[in-house]
Amino acid sequence: MVKYSIYIVIAITSISSCVTPDNYKYLSFFFDGVPDPSVNENIEINLTDSSTQIIQIDSSSIIPQVIIHIPYAENECNSCHDKNFLGAYIKPQPALCYLCHEDFNETYKSLHGPVQGGYCTSCHDPHKSKISNLLVKEGKELCFTCHESSALSLGNLHSDIGENNCIDCHNPHGAVNNNYLVEGTCLNCHDNFNKNYKYVHGPVAAGYCNTCHDSHSSDKENLLLRTGQDLCTNCHDINILLQNEAHEEIDNISCLECHNAHGGEDRFIFN
Ligand code: HEC
Ligand code: HEC
Ligand code: HEC
Ligand code: HEC
Ligand code: HEC
Ligand code: HEC
Ligand code: HEC
Ligand code: HEC
Ligand code: HEC
Repeated sequence: MVKYSIYIVIAITSISSCVTPDNYKYLSFFFDGVPDPSVNENIEINLTDSSTQIIQIDSSSIIPQVIIHIPYAENECNSCHDKNFLGAYIKPQPALCYLCHEDFNETYKSLHGPVQGGYCTSCHDPHKSKISNLLVKEGKELCFTCHESSALSLGNLHSDIGENNCIDCHNPHGAVNNNYLVEGTCLNCHDNFNKNYKYVHGPVAAGYCNTCHDSHSSDKENLLLRTGQDLCTNCHDINILLQNEAHEEIDNISCLECHNAHGGEDRFIFN
């Protein structure tokens, strides 16, 4: 009788569903001889017969999914480690990873610090992880390993940042711009008010939302960077404005009393 040690891995979302042969193949693997460094994260079941048995999992056993890097699952340790000494690698990072993955230097004009420096394993586990994409931490926690969370959390959080994570707006590897923003950024979730107004305010139409809004958080309402006239006089010269009769008595009145920040039915974008 042959004894197989099977590491079963269950997706949280499909705990009570049947594991199909296909995803079973992906989700689990046989490991003979090599000690698994995370044995305590898996349930070990000794089967006495076939290696292709489909296993129905009890919904009470909630175990997070484990993603296994293909070369590790296939026992190809030497595709990364020196064949004589496990502690040495056949190439340093990032060249090691670029042996099989696209070279980000060719994809992006501007590379994120740790990608440029070849610290792929500061975010990815080279062997396996419970988090998709072999990540070492989930969501924004990954980013807060190196970036100050306090700098990005003044008062009201952009609800999206609160619940989801940074990569909705930032590409973790790089982009054409300095802040590695994904294409579209704000406009992937908000519209640029073209449909709402006949006349759209210059910076809004241009998609420069962050000239008035903080992308991450703010201690002001509506994630605004500034309040009162300061929000507008940042771009519009108050001295020029005051030359207009219409502005004779606007001393302490918010510009928003008369104008709309995003647009209007008139070229002066009145409320
Ligand atoms: C895709 C490349 C890659 C493959 C394949 C790979 N490793 Fe690794 N391994 C690494 C890297 C890179 C590190 C260093 C991790 C770090 O910097 O945190 C590492 C670290 C290790 C360590 C040190 C302890 C630890 O877990 O961090 C051991 C032991 C190890 N690997 C064993 C193996 C074995 C055994 C296999 C084959 C079953 C294997 N590795 C396959 C890239 C790989
Ligand atoms: C700052 C953290 C971070 C660093 C450093 C990093 N990655 Fe990633 N990587 C991510 C995240 C987050 C994802 C998931 C992206 C998504 O879901 O859109 C990802 C996804 C991936 C993927 C799968 C999806 C894809 O884009 O092809 C590969 C392959 C990958 N990274 C390789 C690398 C390599 C190679 C390096 C080093 C040159 C590296 N990563 C450095 C965070 C990082
Ligand atoms: C020997 C080839 C090989 C090497 C070297 C290699 N990978 Fe992979 N990697 C693969 C294969 C194969 C896949 C699965 C197919 C795919 O997604 O491209 C994969 C998938 C991934 C994924 C996506 C996992 C997911 O959840 O979909 C990430 C992230 C990743 N590798 C990171 C790395 C990093 C970081 C390194 C360097 C430490 C590295 N790889 C080195 C072969 C390799
Ligand atoms: C391993 C450390 C590390 C991790 C993890 C990390 N970063 Fe970075 N990040 C850096 C470094 C280093 C720089 C370059 C800083 C510089 O050049 O001033 C940088 C720069 C940036 C910049 C550009 C800042 C600027 O001033 O131009 C953004 C945006 C950014 N990271 C976002 C992220 C996001 C989003 C995540 C999570 C997916 C993340 N970072 C995870 C280290 C990290
Ligand atoms: C809603 C889109 C969005 C999300 C989500 C987002 N960012 Fe940003 N981030 C931006 C934009 C846009 C910039 C460019 C500077 C600006 O206009 O605020 C930026 C700039 C940055 C910078 C460089 C400038 C600075 O403020 O230090 C860092 C670092 C950064 N983001 C990290 C993060 C991290 C970490 C997260 C997750 C907690 C995150 N971002 C989530 C849109 C976003
Ligand atoms: C991944 C989706 C997503 C992206 C990308 C995104 N937002 Fe949001 N944003 C939301 C959600 C969800 C809300 C909360 C619901 C609502 O008010 O529409 C929100 C709310 C807001 C609010 C109102 C906040 C408040 O306190 O009432 C502002 C302002 C805002 N976003 C600006 C931006 C800016 C500027 C960008 C680009 C840097 C951006 N958003 C990108 C999803 C997103
Ligand atoms: C000239 C400054 C300015 C610019 C540029 C700007 N906003 Fe606003 N935004 C405001 C002000 C002020 C408010 C507060 C509500 C109000 O009085 O209209 C606001 C409110 C919001 C709100 C919450 C209330 C609502 O109307 O749903 C969202 C979402 C929003 N802005 C998204 C955006 C997006 C997306 C962009 C870029 C396409 C953008 N804003 C560009 C000034 C601006
Ligand atoms: C980021 C810079 C910027 C900010 C901040 C800004 N504006 Fe503007 N504004 C512009 C630009 C650019 C135009 C278009 C100028 C043009 O077409 O002549 C414009 C046009 C206008 C117009 C129409 C002018 C005309 O002659 O048709 C009004 C009214 C206006 N803005 C009011 C405001 C108010 C009120 C605020 C504050 C809520 C504000 N602006 C904040 C850049 C800005
Ligand atoms: C009491 C209502 C009111 C307030 C408050 C107000 N405006 Fe106006 N604004 C007007 C009217 C009316 C016009 C049209 C003038 C015309 O027909 O020439 C105008 C025109 C403008 C114009 C285009 C013409 C020009 O003079 O450049 C801009 C830009 C502008 N306002 C910006 C602002 C800003 C910025 C503030 C706040 C500092 C502000 N307004 C406050 C009523 C107001």
